[in-house]
Amino acid sequence: MSKKTVLVTGGAGYIGSHTIIELLNHGGYEVISADNFFTSSPKSYDQVEMITGKKFKHYKLDLCDILEFDKIFSDHDIAGVIHFAAFKAVGESVELPLKYYHNNIASLVNVLELCRKHKTSNVIFSSSCSVYGNIEKLPVDENTPLPKAESPYAYTKQIGEVMLQDFCKRYLDFSAISLRYFNPVGAHDSGKIGEWPNNKPNNLVPLITGTAIGKYPQLTVFGGDYPTRDGTNVRDYIHVSDIADAHVKALNFLFTGKNKTNYDVYNLGSGNGVSVLEAIAAFEKISGKKLNYKIGDRRAGDVVSVYSDSTKAESVLGWKCKHDIKSMMKTAWEWELYREKEKF
Ligand code: UD1
Repeated sequence: MSKKTVLVTGGAGYIGSHTIIELLNHGGYEVISADNFFTSSPKSYDQVEMITGKKFKHYKLDLCDILEFDKIFSDHDIAGVIHFAAFKAVGESVELPLKYYHNNIASLVNVLELCRKHKTSNVIFSSSCSVYGNIEKLPVDENTPLPKAESPYAYTKQIGEVMLQDFCKRYLDFSAISLRYFNPVGAHDSGKIGEWPNNKPNNLVPLITGTAIGKYPQLTVFGGDYPTRDGTNVRDYIHVSDIADAHVKALNFLFTGKNKTNYDVYNLGSGNGVSVLEAIAAFEKISGKKLNYKIGDRRAGDVVSVYSDSTKAESVLGWKCKHDIKSMMKTAWEWELYREKEKF
């Protein structure tokens, strides 16, 4: 039997590239990918091919350009789409809301239009725990009603989920899953690929490793006066390869027709709440390096604390988180050292 072809949008990005590795190595799928490289590097495709020893087709494409995007669907028999491509910086979305509304929403509309046109009936959507906003009851599960979003980024994820739900309600032959990621960090076990932003990163872990290696002079911890155990935000950090594995499991689940409803949503977190200072301490322990940091002002759009109840993904998709915070920090640090060595 020939392999099914999966389109991975945003495949040169952080989670996209790690997911392609899983799809090629353990999923038994053919992969094609599209990325505009606005926030990623095309070199990550070379790394994926080196790690897997497999080649795959990839296109430079802005998904908002539906005519160009249509050509990819016409040229391939796409069985399913994993839609990662999106802007993802919470703080920037507060500054530039239209950039987020335009890109994150138009790209999903185009994915669904083209799925309809080309009879592709399975989509996995990158959602985010940011849809939960500031919630009291933790850990949070999927039944929690969604409040008003704390940032335009988070709102684009809420809108994306509603759009998929409406689409699935209208077209019963179409199936979709939204995966709500908590905070993906770390790097592939090979140490040869990881988070690879074009510019200075916004996320905590690449800023920690980048500061430790001397790319940035000092890390600012955003806020030390939150109502948490040490005054800093609490997040649920989860290894990127665990997230990637969940995508393969979710896709297999749809392809085998095991889903009881044609739209569903799953949390992907480790279940552990870790504060910013605890994350720094975990890094210092694993790397043997003292981090230069200071406590600064709060960042707009940040929620206080959030961590996951991921029981549903475990019981329905058969997924389990394999990495702990030590392995997240260890692999992130190995990737930073590799990048320095290779001058990436
Ligand atoms: C948010 C989403 C997450 C999404 C990610 C995409 C929430 C709760 N989570 O993560 O689902 O995948 O965006 O980017 O909305 N920090 C510092 N100093 C820094 C950078 C970050 O103290 O220089 C702190 C932040 O204030 C936050 C934590 O580190 O408390 C993690 O921040 P970050 O890595 O940017 O991710 P989130 O914004 O939590």
